[in-house]
Amino acid sequence: MHKPSLFYSMLSPIYPLLVQQFVDDYSLERGIALDIGTGPGFLGTELAKITDMTVYFVDLSEDALRAAKERFDTSETDNEAHFVQADVRALPFENDFADFIMSRGSLWFWEEPEKGLADIYRVLKPGGIAVIGGGLGRYIPQSMRKRLVAANKERMKTTGEKRPCFEDFSRMIRSALLDKAGVDSFRLISEDDEGKSGKWVEIHKRA
Ligand SMILES: C[S@@+](CC[C@H](N)C(=O)[O-])C[C@H]1O[C@@H](n2cnc3c(N)ncnc32)[C@H](O)[C@@H]1O
Repeated sequence: MHKPSLFYSMLSPIYPLLVQQFVDDYSLERGIALDIGTGPGFLGTELAKITDMTVYFVDLSEDALRAAKERFDTSETDNEAHFVQADVRALPFENDFADFIMSRGSLWFWEEPEKGLADIYRVLKPGGIAVIGGGLGRYIPQSMRKRLVAANKERMKTTGEKRPCFEDFSRMIRSALLDKAGVDSFRLISEDDEGKSGKWVEIHKRA
């Protein structure tokens, strides 16, 4: 069974705030949303709590999807929800399917991130937005950001976890989207002034 780690419980306050940020930034209300690499389903569930969106929870791992379904089922929301086991490189959705796509903390684990980004672009509806990357969002207090960044560094030292599988986030994104997929409608976002933590790419598909 996929048990959210101790670190997930430290992170738990960030998910509603991050989703509120997405709702505010992109005026999300209804339509189809994908949460790719959903893990235990925090983002998708929080999105369901404050919008009428139909949410597709997508992950490679069956255990993660089981945990996501459990979280959603106990959240007392009324939204339509689907749990889809899939690789981001081959999403089982038609072209132009989703109004909004979010993916947090997953891109660094994708074997071929450029293929995942291309498939996300394919299933995004014209006029839609995808936001992919990792970080804590803009709405958390500085004190919490400092504590979580330090705890994550410590966790990676203890577990020996090596990330990312690519050295330079912006170079990888530019190469994947601009050079390989010919997509120029994207914006790189960082959560700090030095561009060191909280790296996201926001992809727009022109209507
Ligand atoms: C660190 S977890 C992040 C979970 C969640 N998004 C969050 O922020 O709490 C990364 C998740 O990405 C999933 N994942 C990794 N590679 C994937 C791929 N190629 N396609 C779909 N999901 C993938 C993993 O199974 C895992 O559940």
